[in-house]
Amino acid sequence: MVLFNQFCKINQEVLESKVMKVPSSLEIIQQDIKICKKCELCNTRNNAVPGIGDENADVVFIGEAPGKNEDLHGEPFIGTAGKRLDDALENAGLTRSSVYITNIVKCRPPNNRVPRKEISKNHGQIVYKNNRVYFISFHPAATIYNQKLLDVFKNDIKKLVNELQKIKNKN
Ligand code: URA
Repeated sequence: MVLFNQFCKINQEVLESKVMKVPSSLEIIQQDIKICKKCELCNTRNNAVPGIGDENADVVFIGEAPGKNEDLHGEPFIGTAGKRLDDALENAGLTRSSVYITNIVKCRPPNNRVPRKEISKNHGQIVYKNNRVYFISFHPAATIYNQKLLDVFKNDIKKLVNELQKIKNKN
C-alpha cells in the first residue's frame, strides 16, 4: 500500500510538472510572438525572436531587431553583437541568464536600417518614467564598427549595474 501511494504521488508530480504546468504571462506572450502575422515581416522571417532569459530579471536589454543568426535560431543577440553584449555583461558581473534580452522588433527586417545617431550624446543616462528606470547605451554592434566604443560600452554596463545596486539599496 505504501508503495502504491508513493507510485501515485510520483505520477501526480510528473503530470503536474509536464502536463499541467500553467504558462506564465511572459510564456504566453512568447508563444503569441512566435506565430504572429500582424505585419509583413512574418513573410520573410525564418523564426520570430521573442526574447530569452530570466523573466523576473532586474535588467532587461532591448535591442533593435534580430539579425541573420537570430532569425535562424529564434534567439536574440547570438551573433557577433551578442558576443560583445555577453562580454560586457560578464565584465560587469552579470550573466546572460540572469537578465532578460529582447528586441523592439521581433522579426528580422530584410534590409537592416543603419542605426540612428541620437544614442551617441545620450549614452550612460538614466531616465525615470512610469515607475521604471531606463538606461541608454550603444548597441553592442556599434563596438564592432567603432572599436573606440568598446570601453565606453563596457563602462556603461558597469554604470548600469552600479545604479541598479543603488536602487536596490534604497528599497
Ligand atoms: N542586433 C539586435 O538589435 N538584436 C539582436 O538580437 C541581434 C543583433
